[in-house]
Amino acid sequence: MAEKFLSVGDVARRSGLPVSTLHFYERKGLIASERNAANHRVYRREILRRVSVIKVAQSAGVSLAEIAEALSSLPPGAAPDTDDWARISEVWFDDLTRRINLLTALRDKMGKCIGCGCLSVKTCPLYNENDHLAEEGSGPRLL
Ligand code: FES
Repeated sequence: MAEKFLSVGDVARRSGLPVSTLHFYERKGLIASERNAANHRVYRREILRRVSVIKVAQSAGVSLAEIAEALSSLPPGAAPDTDDWARISEVWFDDLTRRINLLTALRDKMGKCIGCGCLSVKTCPLYNENDHLAEEGSGPRLL
């Protein structure tokens, strides 16, 4: 029968993460430990699934703050079940799609600049892209 609690070393070995990263996650409120009778820090087995979710999210570029927010909807220390994961991953999927679209648009604009170097305020799509004050005339507009 599997043990109910794991030491930080066990979690590190099973998750492939350094102990320091697990402590960092704990300081950020992403995971939680308990103290055993010997006053050693221990984690419930469910922590492994929770750490897996954190690793997947980080690999997709989700910030720790966003991960913490998503996990805060769960009971402390609980691992996301199938329904939780579906709900959380849908939000992250939409955000990833939004970021991909933004980066694709930026890449396309940069493609127009390759080999140019003009950095023209009027024609370069990357430089001073949102210069709405230019419509008011040339020179400084906020002085
Ligand atoms: S550098 Fe010339 S168009 Fe961007």
